[in-house]
Amino acid sequence: MARCFVARRIPGPALGRLEDAHDVEVWPHRLPPTPDELRERAAGAEGLLSLLTDQVDEALLDATPDLRAISNYAVGTDNVDLDAARARGIAVGNTPDVLTDATADLAFALLLALARRLPEGERDVREGRWVTFEPDHALGTEVTGATLGIVGLGRIGKAVARRAEGFDMEVLHAGRSGGVALEELLERSDFVTLHCPLTPETRHLIGTEALARMKPTALLVNTARGPIVDPDALLHALHTRAIAGAALDVTDPEPLPGEHPLLEAPNLLVVPHIGSATVRTRHRMTEIAVANLLAGLAGEPMPHGVS
Ligand code: DGY
Repeated sequence: MARCFVARRIPGPALGRLEDAHDVEVWPHRLPPTPDELRERAAGAEGLLSLLTDQVDEALLDATPDLRAISNYAVGTDNVDLDAARARGIAVGNTPDVLTDATADLAFALLLALARRLPEGERDVREGRWVTFEPDHALGTEVTGATLGIVGLGRIGKAVARRAEGFDMEVLHAGRSGGVALEELLERSDFVTLHCPLTPETRHLIGTEALARMKPTALLVNTARGPIVDPDALLHALHTRAIAGAALDVTDPEPLPGEHPLLEAPNLLVVPHIGSATVRTRHRMTEIAVANLLAGLAGEPMPHGVS
């Protein structure tokens, strides 16, 4: 029996399989452990189930010398120092595939909501500002037949492309798997949606220069990771109408503090990192995270190992 620390309560019955096999402590609070709390609670653990809100860095690994397996409850692993884990012989796993459709659905939901000005329309109706049908009121952007630029044609990017087919969109893509140059994608797209991982190369990929290349009528959707977009550059682009709007499931910082200037920017739709937030997907993420940890602790290859 190995000692395991699970950095938050996670949904679904699969956690019971871990508890049956090992000595498991689950962080019981709504907010994640601070770095100090994580170091303290995970010290002595052989298995760690981390979330994207936990920094699994050198400092944590130094404080957890018994760690043999890290299972990250996310497909993204930018919160884990993979090189440091590899150097210590610690297996790391993530939860890909099961969240592809849920995340692609959300990207499309954001795209449609922004294009058709749903948040604004809903506010108008509720607050009594909508008084009658008007021919030139709340005119949005036509999605059908528009050009969609997908940055990062991995699993989620491809799932978004499949949805775009149903809307007769012209799909462009840019990224490691080829496609067009990012500059061309930005210049030609009516919608730009981000699906690349956060790496040193993609941090602030969408900054002042990239935003200036986009059409003034274009809309930006980010369901990947907040820091792929430079928040200051986005703020400026929205205020100067360099682009027509943005929809963000992820932000930098995350969450945005209540007084953050982006929250006052025109035509910005923000939701709270819910790309994978469906009951079925989150249960399946738990199953995979548990399977990864059980395998890693047994010294077997993780079903979804990343290093
Ligand atoms: C991920 O998995 O990386 C998402 O951002 C959260 O599920």
